[in-house]
Amino acid sequence: MTSRNYSAAQRYVDNVLPGYGDIAGLEATPPVIMTRGQGIFVYDEAGKEYIEGAAGMWCAAFGFNEQALIDAAVEQLHKLPYYINLTDKATTPTGELAERLKAIAPAPMARVFFANSGSEANDTMVKLVWYYNNAIGRPKKKKIIGRRMGFHGLTIGAGSLTGIPAMHTAFDLPIANVLHTDFPHYYREALPGESEEAFATRLAINLDALIEQEGPETVAAFVAEPVMGAAGAIVPPATYFEKIQAVLKKHDVLFMADEVITGYGRTGKMFGCETFGIKPDLMSLAKGITSSYQPLSAVLVGEKLWEPIAEQAKKVGIFAHAFTTTGHPVAVAVALKVLDLFQERDMLNHIGRLTPILQNGLRAFADHPLVGQVRGVGLCGAVELVADKASKRSFAPQLRVKEFVRRAAQARGLILRATASGDSIAFSPPLIINEAQLAEIMRRFRATLDETHAWVESNNLRAVKAG
Ligand SMILES: Cc1ncc(COP(=O)(O)O)c(C=O)c1O
Repeated sequence: MTSRNYSAAQRYVDNVLPGYGDIAGLEATPPVIMTRGQGIFVYDEAGKEYIEGAAGMWCAAFGFNEQALIDAAVEQLHKLPYYINLTDKATTPTGELAERLKAIAPAPMARVFFANSGSEANDTMVKLVWYYNNAIGRPKKKKIIGRRMGFHGLTIGAGSLTGIPAMHTAFDLPIANVLHTDFPHYYREALPGESEEAFATRLAINLDALIEQEGPETVAAFVAEPVMGAAGAIVPPATYFEKIQAVLKKHDVLFMADEVITGYGRTGKMFGCETFGIKPDLMSLAKGITSSYQPLSAVLVGEKLWEPIAEQAKKVGIFAHAFTTTGHPVAVAVALKVLDLFQERDMLNHIGRLTPILQNGLRAFADHPLVGQVRGVGLCGAVELVADKASKRSFAPQLRVKEFVRRAAQARGLILRATASGDSIAFSPPLIINEAQLAEIMRRFRATLDETHAWVESNNLRAVKAG
């Protein structure tokens, strides 16, 4: 099986358990094998160039060949390629990164825990909340509330916080003590004539009712992405987080902010919490923290939690939570360089300048016959396709319209994400993108939409019933 004709794609299909893989379809449409990257572009093994309009998975803020990040990794590899950051040992850059993250956090944070993925960080937040409530003598206060269609990863804990049904089916998730409240998607979930503010009020009332029904003495924390990425760049309705936080405060329920996507400038400020006025008790970071050049995630632990956690650990004799590669020195060295680049290149200013170009570019699709809603903030957004604009009726799911769009865009050299809710296509380009490149994304997407429209009309797909 090492013959030359055995392609990398076939080898992948035959041997890898593919993440999010369409296992039934993979044989017919094997993965595109990417071999290199440059700026906002990636290149497949045949040399075809693609604009990575999703930055991988909302990841590669600095594109795909940032020399400063590569140098930071190589330098640290030469010095000390791996060592532990646990027990009584640590490596040089880890404390500095924690210190710098605390200094820019959107709320007072006392300590930073490092892990390798967003899922691990979110699992860690749950464990810390449980540990904290045990420490302060509230052993019954353990339930966590996520939101329908929220995404927080796929380990047992994080996968339970996730509220996307397909990610629970046949996996025996969610685990006990995880609940899900409303999906704050104004376009889809608001009542006829309901304003954004009234919708937000209703959702806060529902959250309050859920906590009351469960018993506030059993509800420990609420988890939310400031912008729901996997669901389709769902921007919260006006006043939503203000009202939600008032409910949480009333019941002494902690706010765990999942900034895995929204952290590092994606919404226009350094953190989504700043964009939406959230004061988190705990916050998870990943992806942008290293521009995903190395796997790294972090949990920022609020001041309120730290003292009781430390006291509890003293009583137990050890803080018994860590991973072998916690605070991996190479990943941390890259993360420090990412923070340097944000300052040196005035990234937030750059993002602010490009935001109207992306947002206005996307909004220009609103009058396309297939487009139901355009939404977004900062350098992320989504276009949701519908079969009928007036009634907002979606296409029958079995038509897989979003997959058609995704593939048609890809054929034009534009990679976008088909997201979990409805036929939504998400845009989250590398943050280093420029005006001309954004214009090119819009040009390729319009051609993609027109091709999709022709396919829909010639096959009379609007009339197909769900089945
Ligand atoms: C908001 C959010 N949280 C958590 C995760 C999980 O991160 P990971 O895939 O690194 O475990 C993701 C991944 O896309 C995410 O979008």
